[in-house]
Amino acid sequence: MPLVTPLTKLLGIRVPVVQGGMQWVGLPKLVAAVSNAGGLGILTALTQPDPHALRAAIRETRTLTPHNFGVNITLLPSINPPDYEGYARAALEEGVRIFETAGNNPAPLVKLFKSQGCIVIHKCTNIRHAKAGERMGVDVLSIDGFECAGHPGEDDIGGLVLLARAAQELKIPYIASGGIADGRGLAAALALGAAGVNMGTRFVCTVESPVHQNIKDKIVASTERDTIHIFRTLHNTARVFRNKVSEEVVALERRPGGAKFEELRELVSGQRGRKVYELGDPDYGIWSAGVTVGLIKDCPTCAELLSRMESDAERIIEGMARMRVREEDVKAKL
Ligand SMILES: Cc1cc2nc3c(=O)[nH]c(=O)nc-3n(C[C@H](O)[C@H](O)[C@H](O)COP(=O)(O)O)c2cc1C
Repeated sequence: MPLVTPLTKLLGIRVPVVQGGMQWVGLPKLVAAVSNAGGLGILTALTQPDPHALRAAIRETRTLTPHNFGVNITLLPSINPPDYEGYARAALEEGVRIFETAGNNPAPLVKLFKSQGCIVIHKCTNIRHAKAGERMGVDVLSIDGFECAGHPGEDDIGGLVLLARAAQELKIPYIASGGIADGRGLAAALALGAAGVNMGTRFVCTVESPVHQNIKDKIVASTERDTIHIFRTLHNTARVFRNKVSEEVVALERRPGGAKFEELRELVSGQRGRKVYELGDPDYGIWSAGVTVGLIKDCPTCAELLSRMESDAERIIEGMARMRVREEDVKAKL
């Protein structure tokens, strides 16, 4: 029996699992594999050098799956911001109808997407921003807890409390993001009132992920203690894999007087991070990873992963339902 939630109904998917936007990783082959497996794959707009290249990536994804997929637009603090609207319009013109927004001030994009009748999933890391997203008219909130890869915000609230708070405060559906890698996490998220889950790190370590096999092997060999927070002192915290480069960044931040971004720029450059995935050298630069690296023990296809998550979640939910016994049976046992 499939799990039916407000998310599966809204997106027309079978398994309530979304693959979140991932810089350098959210490419057509992975996105299509997730959508073909019954979840929602999401292309990462800014991984493409310009809106024209995003169009090509959308067309390529269409050749690989007949199912729905989305496009992520991540709004980053930047002196020279990318052409966000150009990416958004290119995706709209290519017929994309599901968007994931993340980062600062998504209101203009949300307005544009909603004026075109699109579904918007907005990712945020605290209840205040979730409620602001709700007021903007987004359809689903993706609530990223402290465990997540990438930017967890500055409040340090773990998913368990953050999702229970979402249940108290939000009126629209929300999905659990950060720290989920298996059917147990999916079942727990549903118990916390979520309509599904969003995963990043787990999808990096799948057959269809475009990263070098050495990086997948490194994830499998890692424990939950192998991530680290950089940019804490710059109030732009990011959870990344613990390696020589990220440890050096943190050491520079902790020195008396701290470190300015300019002093870290070379170490944290996005191009170095990209090379990690291309060369398969986990120490080449900074790469995003969540604490789920400790949960990941294999490198399955997306179809194997989602089918396993679905059946494990169902088994766990059924097992929990069996915890409920009739009062007469309890008395009879005593
Ligand atoms: C390699 C990698 C790159 C990511 N890049 C982005 C990004 O560009 N934009 C974004 O909104 N989130 C990004 N994320 C965050 C994911 O979309 C997702 O919110 C997060 O991974 C959830 O936590 P989990 O890794 O514990 O599943 C990235 C995550 C990973 C692992």
